[in-house]
Amino acid sequence: MILAANWKMNIAPAEARRFAERFLAKVPPRQGGELVFFPSAVAIEASVQAFAARPDVRIGVQDVHWEARGAFTGATSVALAAAAGVGCALIGHSERRHVFGETDEDTRRKLGAVLAGGLRPFLCVGEKLEERERGETESVVLRQLGAACHGLAAAGLGPLVVAYEPVWAIGTGKTATPEDAAEVHRVIRTALDALGVGQVPILYGGSVNAGNVQALMARPEINGALVGGASLDPDGWAEVTRLALER
Ligand code: PGA
Repeated sequence: MILAANWKMNIAPAEARRFAERFLAKVPPRQGGELVFFPSAVAIEASVQAFAARPDVRIGVQDVHWEARGAFTGATSVALAAAAGVGCALIGHSERRHVFGETDEDTRRKLGAVLAGGLRPFLCVGEKLEERERGETESVVLRQLGAACHGLAAAGLGPLVVAYEPVWAIGTGKTATPEDAAEVHRVIRTALDALGVGQVPILYGGSVNAGNVQALMARPEINGALVGGASLDPDGWAEVTRLALER
């Protein structure tokens, strides 16, 4: 099971060090449990150092640019992230898509760059509320997945992780029911099978917390969680991970 913390635009380097100390004291390594933290770019190096003693923990970058280097102010290349000790990269998070205007074509280029650079991509897909209400959940999720993977050989997609994050559930306190989430996960799984990539973990994200994580993780279709708000406090995140892994 993969439990991934998306810290978004929170947690400075010194806070990341304090977080790691407190969190690691409470969460021993567990068989089958992979922990990933996505700090802001400025806190990556501190996070890599602070979690270095734990082989079950990976640090990821929240976004990358597909170009290797050059005049792209504010952006982080895969090579720069890797040099800072990063092992994973979020791609196509809904805030990148809907706040910063990232397109399906952008996610395709980013996915290609992340795979070529040897990082593990965490590709986020998910529908907006109006899309769900129009009955378009499946078509939106499949379009985002298909567009991101377009032109990439199945053989190269092995390291992929997909996160299903309905936009209406992110940071809103509204969670998809385990049944609703599982239904979309099945659709994604079928599409991945058709692409020829069988072993890809599919995570759920969107207002996951200590109260709902066990019911969500009880579904065999759900292979882990990508969590924002409930991952910002070391004690709270330790509790969510404990509940998920002890289930
Ligand atoms: P949330 O965010 O847990 O605060 O809803 C999840 C995410 O955006 O990845």
